[in-house]
Amino acid sequence: FNSIEEAIHDLKAGKPVIVVDDADRENEGDLVALSEKVTPDIINFMITHGKGLVCTSIKQELARKLELSLMTGEDSDPFETAFTVSVDHQDTTTGISTGDRSETIRAFTHPDTGAADFKRPGHVFPLIAKDGGVLERPGHTEASLDLAELCGAFPSGVICEIIKDDGTMARVPDLDKMAEAFDLTLITIADLITYRKQREIHV
Ligand code: 5RP
Ligand code: CA
Ligand code: ZN
Repeated sequence: FNSIEEAIHDLKAGKPVIVVDDADRENEGDLVALSEKVTPDIINFMITHGKGLVCTSIKQELARKLELSLMTGEDSDPFETAFTVSVDHQDTTTGISTGDRSETIRAFTHPDTGAADFKRPGHVFPLIAKDGGVLERPGHTEASLDLAELCGAFPSGVICEIIKDDGTMARVPDLDKMAEAFDLTLITIADLITYRKQREIHV
């Protein structure tokens, strides 16, 4: 696996990275990018080569500001992934094109964006991260948000699961090959937890 520093470097440069969670959790690799740097090309790469669901991690306070309530009252997902109602920016048309999704996600990062700027339901799926990040919940939602904070960027990430050509989930050996093929950094949430713990002990 690559270092957290390498991932931060790539993200800051506007390049997606691959983030894998624990083998006894989802055992899944997600493509991750910074929301403030997302482009139609990045979304296109995600839906072409990741093929999962494009979601955006946000903080609880942003969800409150944009009036994004949880998608379900009672969460029966074993990992309690905090999906809110889905949205599209008011200026989008179908909402699903790479340009539209990129515009919706970028809007989250603008300080003057409000609840009225979004149509609902839409085609972008916000996920609310726990305030403690990966130290509180070792999911891709928190990992992408923590990485954005470590980059000094707006606290929000774009994530998309990686599915193989045959439709099954890509596991570490497959993710390794993909990282190699597209020259992408591959990190683990376990390493991100260690990285945060080490840094926070010394502050
Ligand atoms: C949304 C998902 C993905 O698994 C995504 O990685 C977010 O979930 P988590 O934070 O639980 O890893 O379910 O497409
Ligand atoms: Ca999931
Ligand atoms: Zn996940």
